[in-house]
Amino acid sequence: MSVKKIVVLFSGEGTNLENIIKKLHKKVINDCHIQLSGAVCNKENAKGIDICKNYNIPIKIIKHKEYISREEFDKKVVECILSFDPDLTVLAGFMRILTPVFTRHIKAINLHPSLLPLFKGANAIEKSFYSDMKVGGVSVHFVSNELDGGETIAQKCFQKDDNMSLEEFKKKIKELEFEILPQAIVKVLND
Ligand code: GAR
Repeated sequence: MSVKKIVVLFSGEGTNLENIIKKLHKKVINDCHIQLSGAVCNKENAKGIDICKNYNIPIKIIKHKEYISREEFDKKVVECILSFDPDLTVLAGFMRILTPVFTRHIKAINLHPSLLPLFKGANAIEKSFYSDMKVGGVSVHFVSNELDGGETIAQKCFQKDDNMSLEEFKKKIKELEFEILPQAIVKVLND
C-alpha cells in the first residue's frame, strides 16, 4: 500500500478543509493511505485554524501582510509546504493570487465556486448568481500561472431556479464542493 500526503491551504471558514479531513484523512482509498500532513493559512483569525487544532492537523500561519511582495510571500509558503513533503497541495478557499515562485515549485489543485472559465477571481458565487446563466456550478483545476486558469480536473453543475435565493444558491455550491473536491484529490493522487 502506498502513502500519499496532502497539504491544504485556506484563508477562511475551512468547511472544505473539514470535509477533506472527514472523508480522506487517515483513510485507505484505492489501496492508498491518505494523510493530511499539514495546513497553511494566511489569516491569523481564520475559523479553519480551530478546525486544524481540533483534528490535530499541524497548521502554519503565514500572514501575507508581513511580506513586501507576492513573491516573498510565495517563497515562504513554498518553503512551508515543502517542509510537509506532500504529494499534492490543495487550495480550498486560499484567497491569494499566486506567482511563478509558487507555481514553478508546487503541484497544486484549486477549488473554485463557478463553472470555469466563467466567473474567475473573487466573488464568483455572487457573479454567477446574478448572471443570466440558468445553471451554477463548481470546478477543480490544476493551479497554473493564470488566475483560475489551469487544466480542469472536475466540474459539477445544478439548475438555477428562478425563485432560488442567494443563500440557497450558496448552499447548493457547498454541497457540490463537498462532493467534487475529495473526488478530485483521489483522482489526482491515483493518476
Ligand atoms: C469555497 O466556496 C471555495 O470554492 C472558494 O472559497 C470558499 C472557501 O470556503 N474559493 C474561491 O473562491 C477561490 N477563488 P471554505 O473556507 O468554507 O472551505
